[in-house]
Amino acid sequence: MKRRDFLKVVGVGATMIVVQPSMIGQKLYASDGSMFKTYDKVQLMDAQGDPVLASNLEKEKNYVFNYPHVATPCFLLALPEKTSKDIKLKSEDAEEYIWSGGVGKENNIVAYTAICSHQLTHVNPADSFISYVPKKQKTIAYTEGGVIVCGTHLAAFDPAKGAKALSGPTSEPLASIVLEHHDDDTLWAVAVLGPDKFHSFFKAFKPEFKTYFGGKRKAKKFVTASAQTVPLTEYTKEIVQY
Ligand code: FES
Repeated sequence: MKRRDFLKVVGVGATMIVVQPSMIGQKLYASDGSMFKTYDKVQLMDAQGDPVLASNLEKEKNYVFNYPHVATPCFLLALPEKTSKDIKLKSEDAEEYIWSGGVGKENNIVAYTAICSHQLTHVNPADSFISYVPKKQKTIAYTEGGVIVCGTHLAAFDPAKGAKALSGPTSEPLASIVLEHHDDDTLWAVAVLGPDKFHSFFKAFKPEFKTYFGGKRKAKKFVTASAQTVPLTEYTKEIVQY
């Protein structure tokens, strides 16, 4: 069996599925199934338990939800303009994949893991050294705003181009969260595309998982049905932006 024909469900209740990428929406998302993993389809909901509606998102505001694991944070962003389409990206292992673009009526809504591809700096309830810097705001990590900046070693990523690395110590993009936008304006997370770093993440931050999630096993659980989506200012105590 060729790898691209591979279809596998991993674990009981662990609803990660590796599929032939071109089966999803008839689009080629990745040249290799290892760069594209579907998980439970999860609806983005606000803190009141109401559906997040794409047209209600404030442009250029950092929103955070956890997906596909209980402890893996992601950014949700409504960018000021529609994104590029079908961007070819590469992991540090030179695996190629294609990011198809933003969703919503304006094709400007994107989501990425809020875990830096360099050394795993990430958003947590105590602080955030990684976040989107709006277009009109200056950053020392890049020539202009409109980028996701990791302040730990000043990496900048382009959210309009699949979180491609623009500057700093990494050439690897942030993994993207594949979103669906439905006719009723709701948003759903369905998959992770790109180098997700989850394996290293779960190895590296055991004490943190204990503090916030009651241990690594609980932190690794998959999110099901819905994911609470809140502004970064509500998710974390301190935001550090350079
Ligand atoms: S950890 Fe993000 S730039 Fe180094």
